[in-house]
Amino acid sequence: MCGIVGYTGPKQCVEALLDGLGKLEYRGYDSAGIAVLDDGGITIRKSEGKLARLLELVGREPVAGTCGVGHTRWATHGRPSDANAHPHKAGAVAVVHNGIIENHQALKTRLKAKGRRFDSETDTEVISHLLDEYIQEGLSLAEATRRAAADLRGSYAFLAISDKEPGTIVGARLNCPMVVGVGDGEAFLASDLPPLLSHTREVLFLEDGEMVVAAPEGVHLTDFAGTPRIRKPQHIDWSPVMAEKGGYPHFMLKEIHEQPRGILDTLAGRMLPDSGDVFFETLPLPDETLKRLRKVVIVACGTSWHAGLVGKFMIEGLARLPAEVDLGSEYRYRDPVVERDTLCIPISQSGETADTLAGLREARGKGAVAISICNVVSSTIARESDGVIYTHAGPEIGVASTKAFTTQLVALYLLALHLASARGTLSKAGIASHLQELSELPRKIEDVLKREAVIAATARKFKDATDFLYLGRGISYPIALEGALKLKEISYVHAEGYPAGEMKHGPIALIDERMPVLVLCAQGETYEKTLSNFEEARTRGGRMIAVGTEGDTQLREKAEEVFLLPPCGRYARPILEVVPLQLLAYHMAVLKGTDVDQPRNLAKSVTVE
Ligand code: G6P
Repeated sequence: MCGIVGYTGPKQCVEALLDGLGKLEYRGYDSAGIAVLDDGGITIRKSEGKLARLLELVGREPVAGTCGVGHTRWATHGRPSDANAHPHKAGAVAVVHNGIIENHQALKTRLKAKGRRFDSETDTEVISHLLDEYIQEGLSLAEATRRAAADLRGSYAFLAISDKEPGTIVGARLNCPMVVGVGDGEAFLASDLPPLLSHTREVLFLEDGEMVVAAPEGVHLTDFAGTPRIRKPQHIDWSPVMAEKGGYPHFMLKEIHEQPRGILDTLAGRMLPDSGDVFFETLPLPDETLKRLRKVVIVACGTSWHAGLVGKFMIEGLARLPAEVDLGSEYRYRDPVVERDTLCIPISQSGETADTLAGLREARGKGAVAISICNVVSSTIARESDGVIYTHAGPEIGVASTKAFTTQLVALYLLALHLASARGTLSKAGIASHLQELSELPRKIEDVLKREAVIAATARKFKDATDFLYLGRGISYPIALEGALKLKEISYVHAEGYPAGEMKHGPIALIDERMPVLVLCAQGETYEKTLSNFEEARTRGGRMIAVGTEGDTQLREKAEEVFLLPPCGRYARPILEVVPLQLLAYHMAVLKGTDVDQPRNLAKSVTVE
């Protein structure tokens, strides 16, 4: 999510670090910092805000040294602030880190018991303390890193320097990217390729469970047990722009493919599938308050509103709480009735959407308690809520929302289970089976993404169609809306999402042999009914596209194009169903030659009415 850079070699490192951080700016961040190692020890410069502020600081208070690390932080644990910015120093060690340390609370407690004092609200700081602890016991930085790796749960790519080992940078990777650029008597390290490409094109990609020890004398890879991993650097001929997109032609496609990772991060540290427990650090509402709730009001805009429509099914179905869903722009002006013990859930990727914010203020002003679901830490909506659940999707750059949406659905699913637990509407065993379902999602989405070619072929077949109808029932109806919205937004093809059962009351008049009709008919509670609607459209000559469940032979016979998903439960289904729809919109847009990442007339964050 954040950006990491490191340099060791004969040159002064500050310029390489700051230049490298500049190359990672496109990812979005809220603070930045560097740590530089020289004979006098480690010096840190860090600051909340954009890189320009860090540059100013370094200009005012210069640092010198030939070995250092840098970071652009996109907050996940702890708000954006100078103290929470990386690097984090403890004793001899400074660390920069990407990812989430799931067991940071337990480690913090253990380290505090040993008298260690923490200066930030981050999960990262436990890494620097752990390393310093082990170095004090006599281990080298590499040995300390190896030992710390055994303590850390979650996902990470981190770099560490120690004032006891000038010129050495140690890095470790688990579920977060890290690359090492191998130069002549120097090494560059980063979370992504762009910072490296102006220095060297010879790179080593670290694999999960690998560590690197980099020094001017050379670069050594090992696994976490210390066994050497010997391989030659790869030559990279990507352009800097290709590198920013991780080799994908567009940010949107990269973000579609980041969904398994984003979901894992959103689940990380929040559930115990074995015991059926769900917890959120940032939800300071006692179970008593949750038990008393009588109603839920979800307020959101755009794609986030579609997430809210799915959330209604989750909250009503699992926590047995009546839920209404409103568009921010509607809710704020309709003088809503807010009864006692109402929970308002504003949903917003950016946390800044003006209409959603106004909805939140309206609801709270009338006495509701608010738990927001946001992707940007410390955004206005997050700050003005009583509690917040952050989606850990990472920065979303493509204007059309994809990974933010699926992580919102995951956050809503977790929240519904949390409410169900507090209100006693589900047993622990019942919750545990839902958590199991959630933990299988990333793998299932990977499976869907592997079959992208099927969707790309469907897009080619229908690229000249001018109108699409998307149909779904129940919890899949919002996905029909979202699929149609994606197509409109980026390919400028007209598409309408409709509840399948309602088609006969109007849209059926539109259907002829030119009209593609995409039906969401995965196996589930409304399968048979949806299939009848499918037939109604087919017999009117519609060109049928079906999204179903693996093993469904009926659909293969009836539809012109079929995309089959791995089997899953009711509440996980929309999270899988939306993925082929995102890909279809993407491939249609590419074929039409539109600006996929910045579609005309649209903005990523709408902070005006
Ligand atoms: C804009 C974006 C959409 C997004 C909507 C709500 O219209 O283009 O992708 O869904 O705003 O944004 P939010 O940040 O509140 O989720």
